[in-house]
Amino acid sequence: MDSSSTDKVQAIRWSSDRLLLLDQRLLPERKEYVAIDTWRDAMHAIRDMVVRGAPAIGITAAYAVVLAAREHIIADPRQWRESIDTDLQALSAARPTAVNLRWAVDRMRSKIASTPDSGALDCLLDEAKSIHDQDIAANLRMGALGAGLIEKHATVLTHCNAGALATGGYGTALGVIRAGFGAGKIKHIYAGETRPWLQGARLTAWELLQEDIPVTLIPDSAAAYVMLNRGLDWVIVGADRVAANGDVANKIGTYSLAVLAREHGVRFMVVAPTSTIDRRLDDGADIEIELRDEEELLTCGGRRVAPDGAGAFNAVFDVTPAELIDYLVTERGVVERPSAPGIRALYDSRP
Ligand code: MRU
Repeated sequence: MDSSSTDKVQAIRWSSDRLLLLDQRLLPERKEYVAIDTWRDAMHAIRDMVVRGAPAIGITAAYAVVLAAREHIIADPRQWRESIDTDLQALSAARPTAVNLRWAVDRMRSKIASTPDSGALDCLLDEAKSIHDQDIAANLRMGALGAGLIEKHATVLTHCNAGALATGGYGTALGVIRAGFGAGKIKHIYAGETRPWLQGARLTAWELLQEDIPVTLIPDSAAAYVMLNRGLDWVIVGADRVAANGDVANKIGTYSLAVLAREHGVRFMVVAPTSTIDRRLDDGADIEIELRDEEELLTCGGRRVAPDGAGAFNAVFDVTPAELIDYLVTERGVVERPSAPGIRALYDSRP
């Protein structure tokens, strides 16, 4: 599958032996691709938010492994499998919360171990492409499953950007919103602006408008007001990591939305492929939460907004306890009221 069949917007492309990343820091003003020729540049692009969103980071890392292998095979065609490992570890650590990054690097590492030397690069590229294609297929499936849970004329709030830009294509939470809107089930979409990177204002609003889907932006702090006064039916979000008991790490502010949703009788849906489930963690307490530079909060649009001397706490994810989640939608099926047995059952059935 090719994401061009599902999206006007492609965050990640592989073309003429190089990786092309849509620079998401520039959207919506400018639509520019950055050409990436080395794994190190790919790692920096992940760290610096050129590409972001858990599945998109994983796919980028998979292609970055191909770039690393190319470098190491040229440098030492006999020992490249050993010498590449330090680079793969650095790549895995580029951002700590989204487990798709480590998942994709591990999958590429297994391919490195099982691939014969002749044609190794082609095999690795095929694996990266299949990670990319499988992500799009998972999103289309989750879109249909999630939209199936929504009744007619629903009003929905989403947070951050969990769309085509954050994935291989089509999106997770935005995939459900696209499918639900297309089926006439969703009548209104609110997007939280998502300080400090404004993924909601800059990316979600832009992406929905590319698909001619109307969207209303709200400040993150307006969610309670909207729930109380504007008849919200659903909060639909993506995830960066889901623990084995269904606790969900996602963009900072997701936990507040879940608490508010429970208080106001609004249903809460998390949409995430199984590549985002970290079955090694019993619960969300052990999920590493990324802390980013204070400057991201102390400034806005490149201008300093806080007085000199003010500190800032810039945790960019939080963990929503499973008991606040009504549905976890994966490509393997829907888990209602997620719990350890419910998540285990996803793996008992065929993929
Ligand atoms: O810091 P970001 O922009 O990488 O955070 C992204 C999110 O929190 C998304 O909601 C999550 O990765 C799901 S993307 C399908």
